[in-house]
Parts: sequence; structure tokens; C-alpha cells
Amino acid sequence: MDNDGDVRAVQHRLAKARQSHLLQFWEELSVPQQQELCTELKAMDLEELNQAFQKAMMGESHLPQLENMDAKMEPVPRDILGSATRDRLHLAAWEAEGLRQISQNKVAVLLLAGGQGTRLGVSYPKGMYDVGLPSSKTLFQIQAERILKLQQLAEKQYGLKCVIPWYIMTSGRTMELTKEFFLKHKYFGLKKENVVFFQQGMLPAMDFNGKILLEEKGKVSMAPDGNGGLYRALGAHHILEDMERRGIGSIHVYCVDNILVKVADPRFIGFCVQKGADCGAKVVEKTNPTEPVGVVCRVDGVYKVVEYSEISLATAQKRSHDGRLLFNAGNIANHYFTLEFLKDVVNVHEPQLQHHVAQKKIPYIDVATGKSVKPDKPNGIKMEKFVFDIFQFAKNFVVYEVVREDEFSPLKNADSQNGKDNPTTARHSLMSLHHCWVLNAGGHFVDENGTRLPAIPRCTDGRSDGIQADVNHNLKDANDLPIQCEISPLVSYGGEGLEEFVKDKEFHAPLIIDTTGIHELVKNGV
Ligand code: UD1
Repeated sequence: MDNDGDVRAVQHRLAKARQSHLLQFWEELSVPQQQELCTELKAMDLEELNQAFQKAMMGESHLPQLENMDAKMEPVPRDILGSATRDRLHLAAWEAEGLRQISQNKVAVLLLAGGQGTRLGVSYPKGMYDVGLPSSKTLFQIQAERILKLQQLAEKQYGLKCVIPWYIMTSGRTMELTKEFFLKHKYFGLKKENVVFFQQGMLPAMDFNGKILLEEKGKVSMAPDGNGGLYRALGAHHILEDMERRGIGSIHVYCVDNILVKVADPRFIGFCVQKGADCGAKVVEKTNPTEPVGVVCRVDGVYKVVEYSEISLATAQKRSHDGRLLFNAGNIANHYFTLEFLKDVVNVHEPQLQHHVAQKKIPYIDVATGKSVKPDKPNGIKMEKFVFDIFQFAKNFVVYEVVREDEFSPLKNADSQNGKDNPTTARHSLMSLHHCWVLNAGGHFVDENGTRLPAIPRCTDGRSDGIQADVNHNLKDANDLPIQCEISPLVSYGGEGLEEFVKDKEFHAPLIIDTTGIHELVKNGV
């Protein structure tokens, strides 16, 4: 390799793209640092980057016209909407269809796990997080076990041994740790060849004038290119070919942080297949205008998600005649795509996807002084594509609404930050759901005196007036939960099959039900 030639070529390209400052400290770098920087810069398409910046900033400067966009927003029409509560009569058929697809090896799951977990404040991938369940299972383990269970359920119903391949998108920041974690835990019982890791791209952070920022004197400040980086990564790593080779028809794409996620949910898959959809989104009813979830809606005749950062408060607060929010299809980042649709996206539409701009406080090296600066207000932007921006290309888009308590409790923040979407709420959501499963299957919980606890616990929050507190929202930690109950996904995927364990039996909490049996932790002195 001609090193000098490489450096000259990079210098030339940088000058042309007005990014020459990136070599400002070249002479101070060691030879390995120079090589690393040179390789990093060589791999960058600077022209494309400058164009993306221009386009993204242009989009931003149109943001004040948000109201115009708001005026064009229409709620999701009823005819494309399926509902886990309003369409109860269809649920069994959708589930049977989904399981049939799974039994025929036609369903894959794809996990978006390239995020940096900034809000949660951990330095490792979020899927490795242990929210403090009695079993200490991590998000990755819970998801892996749900996949295993679903394979068994499909096999049992249709008599066919089957596989749900798991594609996991990581980023430069999460790849190695994620792979090591899976290896260490023997892929949580899944076959190694059915867990496919691939890496999304990174983009440099820029200041407001489009100058790329340096994180160190020899290192560009890079961040993952958003969960919509998926489509480029699918192409770059030939993932669709792998899916094709396996005969996959439907793909369930989801985010890593939702502890209740129903991976490859047969009802959702079955609903989408029966509707002949090429693209679908699972939603929960948004009830609070300021909740940080995007809303699925129609703008100028095409479906999209208007992200929580992109909707005006006035629009978010609009209500329809029945008093519910007008834009209430809350995106829970669970999407359905056919393989054919993804092929079109990757091969045809991807370049049309626009970056979204997030203004951030980005630590950088000041090229004038060589000093490292930690800004206290936003000094630059990160550009990201969003996974749902391909809804606009769908020919037959559908929406499936599910019950929040059954399916959505994301882990976004640290316990210390605020009372929402944190390890405590995630843990409580899962245990509340599993508590319900036990009751629905005919089991009962008793207190230390053997007295049966009421199905819907009365929980006072310590105030002398004894006003009943909201079980899910006023609890401070797991010990406050009236019922601690955890059921292994290997025992039950969605509450099914529990009668043989619990019917007409009485339990003391904390209770764990797993493949080795029933464990009452206190009674057994654990
Ligand atoms: C996301 C949704 C939002 C939805 C909310 C529900 C997007 C763009 N927004 O918001 O509409 O209401 O979840 O919880 O999907 N990720 C990558 N690569 C990246 C960035 C993120 O793989 O470069 C992954 C993360 O690991 C995570 C997921 O994408 O699994 C969502 O990322 P996050 O930044 O947490 O999205 P939210 O802003 O919470």
C-alpha cells in the first residue's frame, strides 16, 4: 500500500469537501494513529456527507413550518387497523396463521440494538441490562427465551420442527460486547448459526456549519447512523440473501429496550399475512400528549411516524369527539415487513431516505487551540435515519393496536433520572403482567397468614387517609410491589399453558415459575 499516496489522496478529498481541519494535528500523531485516521477518512464519502448535511439542515429550517405539516396529519383510518381488544373474534385465527408461518420457517426476527443507551447511562449494550428481576435475566435472555418458546409452540401445533432466525443489528460501539455476551451465555440455548450479527454504519458529528468534529486529535467524532441505518446495513452485509436462502417471508423488527416485547408475535404476523400487508406497525393507544412516543398517521396520503420530537404540542393535544387523543396510534417500534418489501427498500428506496437532525452537546477538539471542549449547550448535530421512514413506500400498510400493559414497557432512563421508563417500571410491568397470568390461570396468592390476597390489590401509599394508590405508578421499588411474580418465557410465551402449574393452588410471593418447577423464594428461604 502506498501510504504517502493514500495520505495525499485523503488531503485532496478533504480540501475539496472543505474538511481539511481534520488533519490539523497530523504532525502530532504517532504513526499508528496517523494510519488509523487515514483509514477512517478514506472510508468516508465526504461528498455524500456534505450533501446529507445540506439536506438535513434544509429539512430543519422547515421545522418552523411544523404547523403546516400538522395541518396535513390525518389519524390512521379504521379499515387498516386491527385491534387486540376490538377484534377479539379474529385473534385465534391470526395466531394460528402466525404459528403456521413460523412452523414453515417463514418468519425471522430482527433486533435493532445499535443504540448507545445514552439516557440509561450504561457503557455496555442495553440488551445486557439486568433490570433486577428475581431471576436476574437480561433483556437479551428474555428475548432469546421467547424465541425458543415460540418455536416449540409452532412445532407443537403443526408438528414441524422449525427455526426463527434472529438477526441482531449492532453498531461499532456495541458489536464486540454483544457477541462476547452471547458466546458467554451459549446463545441462551439458541443455535449459533441462527443468530446472525451485523453492524450498522456510523456517521461523523458536525458543527452547525457542516464541519466534521474531532473527538481526539487523531479521531473523528462518530455515532451510529440511526436505526434507519438498518437498510444500508442489510444491503452491505447481504442479510436479505441470507433470509432468502432460509425461505423467510415475514420479518418482525423491534427495539431492544421493551421488556414486554412479543418477539415474532404470531397474532401480529398472522394479522399482517391475512391482510396481505407488505408493511405493518404495532401500536398502543397514546393517552398522554407529552409521552415520548412517535405517532403513526397519514401525511399527504402516505403513512409515516411523526416522531415525538417533531410534533407540535397543540397537535399532540388534539382530541376527537370521544375524548381520546386524535393522534393516539403510539409507535412502540415493532414493525412487520415482507422480505419482498425490504428488497425494494434496500435496492431502490434507501437513498431517498432523509436524515433527521438531532442537536447535541458534542465534546470536541478545538482546532484553533488543540484543547478538548465539553460544551454546556448544543454545539452540533448528529444525523440519523429512522427505521419507520420506509412506511411511505408500502403498498399495503396496516396497523395493529395492542394493550400497553401486555406489550409495552420500555427501558429508556436510569432509575435516578425520573419515574418513567426505567429499570423499576420495567421490572414492575413484567411482574404485574405475570401476576395477572397466574390469576387468569386459576392460581391465588396468599399473605404470610395464609389469607388469600384480593385479585386487584388495594395498595395504600402510606398516607393516613388511605387513598388507594395506583399499583403500577406509585411504587418505589420491587419490594413495594404487592405481588412479585416472574414466569420464565420458556414456560409461557403469552400467559398460555399455566393451568397445570397454578390452577387452584395458593402461592406466596416472590414466586418464580421456570422449567425446573415452582419456586416460592421466601417460603423456601431463598
Ligand atoms: C423509538 C422510536 C419511537 C417510539 C419509541 C418507543 C425510532 C426512531 N423512534 O424512540 O417512535 O415511540 O422508540 O419506545 O424508532 N438504535 C439502533 N441504532 C441507532 C439508534 C438506535 O439500532 O443508531 C436502536 C436502539 O438500540 C433501540 C431502538 O433503535 O433498540 C430505539 O432507539 P431509541 O433511540 O431508544 O429510540 P426512541 O427515541 O426511544
